[in-house]
Amino acid sequence: MERTLAIIKPDAVANQHSGAIIARIEKAGFHIAAMKLVRLTLAEAEGFYAVHAERPFFGELTEFMSSGACIPLVLEKENAVADWRTLIGATNPADAAEGTIRKDYAESLGRNAVHGSDSVENGIKEANYFFAEHEIVANR
Ligand code: CMP
Repeated sequence: MERTLAIIKPDAVANQHSGAIIARIEKAGFHIAAMKLVRLTLAEAEGFYAVHAERPFFGELTEFMSSGACIPLVLEKENAVADWRTLIGATNPADAAEGTIRKDYAESLGRNAVHGSDSVENGIKEANYFFAEHEIVANR
């Protein structure tokens, strides 16, 4: 079964949207295989987003991601990576389709409520960044 890493980001947790976002995850048929609430250190956020290290927004992104609690989740489903990205909508909420999580809960391009892995390979890598194998409970 395909896996993706979702993160309910610090803006959505602080704004008390976590429950509504988790309800949407379940309603869309994802199996939650792992979930926890953590506050990342700046170094942990920099490690997770290392691929963006050269981007001008890297400092803003990693400071935001370490600014408060976030909720990483491993989601399982056939086509989990693409289906989660469809459910969350475009990275910039100004471009996100009606009914998507970012359309409804994101504040801005930087504070955009949720993260989703961009490929099957990165879904595995990112799930392993947050969770040990024994913390991921497969559906079957
Ligand atoms: P995410 O899907 O978590 O992956 C990388 C993140 O970088 C992205 O969501 C955005 O929140 C953030 N991001 C992308 N472009 C910008 C930008 N120009 N300014 C600030 N943050 C950005």
